[in-house]
Amino acid sequence: MVARYTDGVVGRDFLNWSRTHVFWRGALLLFAATIAIAVFARGRASPAPPTRVAIRVMCADAATCSLVERVSLDVWSEEQGPGLPLDVVVTRDGLAELAAAGIHWDVLVADIDAVARAEHARLAQPVAARPADWFAEYRDYTAISGHLRELAELAPDRASMHPIGATLEGRPIWALRIGGATARTPMLVNGTQHAREWIASMVTTCVADRLVRDYDRDPKVRAFVDSTALWVVPVVNPDGYQYSWSSDRYWRKNRRDRFGVDLNRNFSVAWGGAGSSRSERSQTYRGAYAFSEPETAALRDLALRERITAHVDFHSYGQLVLYPWGHSNTAAPDRAKLAAIGDRMASAIFAQHGARYALQTGFDLYAASGIMTDWMYGAAGALSYTIELRPKGGAGFVLPPSEIRPTCDEGLAAVLALRGSIGN
Ligand code: ARG
Ligand code: ZN
Repeated sequence: MVARYTDGVVGRDFLNWSRTHVFWRGALLLFAATIAIAVFARGRASPAPPTRVAIRVMCADAATCSLVERVSLDVWSEEQGPGLPLDVVVTRDGLAELAAAGIHWDVLVADIDAVARAEHARLAQPVAARPADWFAEYRDYTAISGHLRELAELAPDRASMHPIGATLEGRPIWALRIGGATARTPMLVNGTQHAREWIASMVTTCVADRLVRDYDRDPKVRAFVDSTALWVVPVVNPDGYQYSWSSDRYWRKNRRDRFGVDLNRNFSVAWGGAGSSRSERSQTYRGAYAFSEPETAALRDLALRERITAHVDFHSYGQLVLYPWGHSNTAAPDRAKLAAIGDRMASAIFAQHGARYALQTGFDLYAASGIMTDWMYGAAGALSYTIELRPKGGAGFVLPPSEIRPTCDEGLAAVLALRGSIGN
């Protein structure tokens, strides 16, 4: 009896019959599904979204600049003003409009969405094909949160994980606090207020990684960690960041309602002023009121609670070290001190790989109101900087992953130089 059921022939036959059956049933289903999808797609055929082109225009005068800005979907360049090159994103229709107005341009990226798709395909490769070095590739919010947790577990006496708030979609905003038992001077470093600036998430996570892991082998790191209570928030805007991974690589704001709020226009110092918009659709929409967003409120509460005295807000791109004010051309009361320390930061950056980061006030770049750096300085009393990381220009937000490590060296050098300039 038992032999019958274990008889190989019977078993194999059953298996063969079953495989054939499953094959044909599968084929039939696939065929039906293909037809259904084809019919469905025909019925709903919507035009492909227009190609988005990144171009650079030399806008010689204010009128040309504003025409270009009106035609553009998005402004990418950090340096703005007559006589400066302006990097914008336009559709092919936009290009036709510029041509009709006699405006010349250089193409920076012929199809920004194709670039994003290529990056996406690279990131979708199976785990085995991915580099062993965690910082040799970009990482999403889940991976970054996991990495911070690992650092906290690796050195529980000098690193701990803290949620400082939660987003509209319910994601925790994570901070890693780094500092030994004797740590006193409270500092804050954060990245990715703007979702598409992926290098800022990687650099801040990497700065945390270096400070935790190099404690025993690098005396400069040890001195920093022993004396500083550093709060690192790599992803200030998790909802927007995840959206830039899943749906639109060039998304900037958070995910409030349909259009989102520009977090870096939502702080209360000079909220509502020049270089911020009341229009929800604008890339610089300031929100309904100052600190209307959970992300900015979380940073405010952390900075006040910890009495932060020095701060860096990492962005990309443009290779710049910016200090207050961003909203006005009046000199900040500590302008000389801010500039002197900023100069040390830029030199420390240059000493890494020879990259030049230009030092100036935020306003000298262009007016921006309700920004974090102005609030950290003007309301929280911290020495505060905005650093625009690599690249200097060109392809913009989609930076090759091979530049994560060198850009991290620059970020760490800037943070150490800032710390070295402020005493205890
Ligand atoms: N790119 C950042 C932003 O748009 C930084 C602004 C720098 N500050 C300034 N006043 N331009 O939020
Ligand atoms: Zn930014």
